[in-house]
Amino acid sequence: MSILSFPHRGPWGDSKWRGNCSGYVYQDLFKRLKPNFYIDPMVGSGTSTDVANEMGIEAIGLDLHSGFNILRDSILERAGKQADLVVSHPPYGNQVVYSGEVWGEPHPDDLSRCKDDDEFHQKLQQALLNQREATKDGGVYGTLIGDYRKNGRYTSYQAEAIARMPSAELMAVIIKQQHNVMSNAKQYPGLVMPRIMHEYLLLWKRKQTPTIFLLRDLATEQANRLRGTWRAIIRNVVIALGGSASLKTLYEKIAAHCDERVKANPNWQAKVRQILNSTGDYVSVSRGVWALA
Ligand SMILES: C[S@@+](CC[C@H](N)C(=O)[O-])C[C@H]1O[C@@H](n2cnc3c(N)ncnc32)[C@H](O)[C@@H]1O
Repeated sequence: MSILSFPHRGPWGDSKWRGNCSGYVYQDLFKRLKPNFYIDPMVGSGTSTDVANEMGIEAIGLDLHSGFNILRDSILERAGKQADLVVSHPPYGNQVVYSGEVWGEPHPDDLSRCKDDDEFHQKLQQALLNQREATKDGGVYGTLIGDYRKNGRYTSYQAEAIARMPSAELMAVIIKQQHNVMSNAKQYPGLVMPRIMHEYLLLWKRKQTPTIFLLRDLATEQANRLRGTWRAIIRNVVIALGGSASLKTLYEKIAAHCDERVKANPNWQAKVRQILNSTGDYVSVSRGVWALA
């Protein structure tokens, strides 16, 4: 079953810790994966490690509140050895600010203090790569994260995390129903879309590849996506022009609508020609005029 729903959190960790999670999520995960050694690098009130200890699983919990910074410190070095399972539960969407509010002084590397989503996506990727490094070959690393909507704009942190990690390692995307979230109590006048009542447990299975080599795989995946995007957009423009267009019209149409940064790239017109010539999507119907194949 890829959907988890635990209305109660159980006796583990601290129910008063803002953003705490149900211990049954970890109990279910540990039963499924049977780790001998588990690490939670953002342990908060200790829910996950309490469950692990009760199940006789060796566990280490780290957190910024007790001097471990996932953006600067190596999890592997702190733990002293690789683990079978490394799962984090980061703060997201500025719903709860931890440093300076839940504990201690404001900390610049507190993931709940990111200035915008881009900064968060980047830092979460860094955290996940740190987790991966601390995971045995064949072990599992992952994160428990939700999505967020503010002023009508939906940000999918889970989709961004999946896009930034090696797709060949993605093992499971499990939906966890949210119970007793603070926003439940609020009234949203004129709410059209359903309130977000779920999080995702994202799991990756580590392959042998050293992290530095991931750069090649991730760069290839991103380059393929970008190529696909050019292809899809040019097709969209040709369709809007009735299924065929001269190269000149295509350039004009694209130049009129695309971002200045794209136009600043002197190769963008060559990119258009390459797609017309080499994808098999188009045929040349007369000199300089292209139609959908
Ligand atoms: C959502 S809470 C975890 C809650 C936990 N699962 C529980 O049930 O209590 C997220 C935690 O991430 C920690 N955190 C934020 N930035 C961090 C960083 N850079 N390194 C390590 N921990 C960080 C926060 O201090 C907070 O305790």
